Amino acid sequence: MMPTTDSRFPTLGFGLGLRTDHYESLLDARADVDWLEAISENYLVPGGRPRDWLRRLRERYPIVLHGVSLSIGSQDSLDPEYLRQLKRLIDEIEPAWVSDHLCWTGVHGRNLHDLLPMAYTEESIAHVSARVRRVQDILGRRILLENVSSYVEFKASTMPEWEFLAAVAERADCLILLDINNIHVSASNHGFDPQRYLAGIPAHRVQQFHLAGHSFQNNLIIDTHDRPVADPVWRLYADAVRRFGAVSTMIERDDDIPVLTELLVELARARAIADACTDLAA
Ligand SMILES: [Fe+2]
Repeated sequence: MMPTTDSRFPTLGFGLGLRTDHYESLLDARADVDWLEAISENYLVPGGRPRDWLRRLRERYPIVLHGVSLSIGSQDSLDPEYLRQLKRLIDEIEPAWVSDHLCWTGVHGRNLHDLLPMAYTEESIAHVSARVRRVQDILGRRILLENVSSYVEFKASTMPEWEFLAAVAERADCLILLDINNIHVSASNHGFDPQRYLAGIPAHRVQQFHLAGHSFQNNLIIDTHDRPVADPVWRLYADAVRRFGAVSTMIERDDDIPVLTELLVELARARAIADACTDLAA
């Protein structure tokens, strides 16, 4: 049966991706950040120093867990040890929610350490949504799947990415982490209209937005996360807020990481845009 009710988690506001450079500043004073997103794989080892930092930060901030190695689109079986470790981390940290990517990262036991796009077909929808349901059963909670950026497409695809993402979310009864930068990057690289993407995503499934910077290489836009959010992405973010409302938003920065105060200025810009657009929508 297709659920149509809004079963999202409560909104958290405006957050940042948790990076080791900012541990001290985040603990020193109550920074103007509502929540933190931690990369699950960095904290899987029980009793280690990273886990200790995360526990201390969790006392101050709501935390969500964001994974990079579920490889939900792969033909390989799900990794039971990874899921066991993730479940233990969830039990200890009690995150507001848990997410990973709608992609595959390897096959035949080899990890390619990249978030690779899938062929958008009916067969893939059936394959991925069954696996998401299994993961949700194991973790005992609904998860979020994020749209990845891509530079190539499969000839076998029979539908656009937004249709695929929407169908997987409906069939798996999971939620969506919409990466606004990734929509912009893929729209530019493949020549589709990002507005059609936003229009094709079911609003009652959208739990979180990612914002990030990108760079240009050989006629392609690359999802590098090494600079501030670009103006076209801010404009697309405003469109996303008009369409989806006040969705929890965070900025991802993975390289050339600036001091915390610099990221807080960017986060304040996200707040201002969201405030203006939700006022207009009201
Ligand atoms: Fe992202």
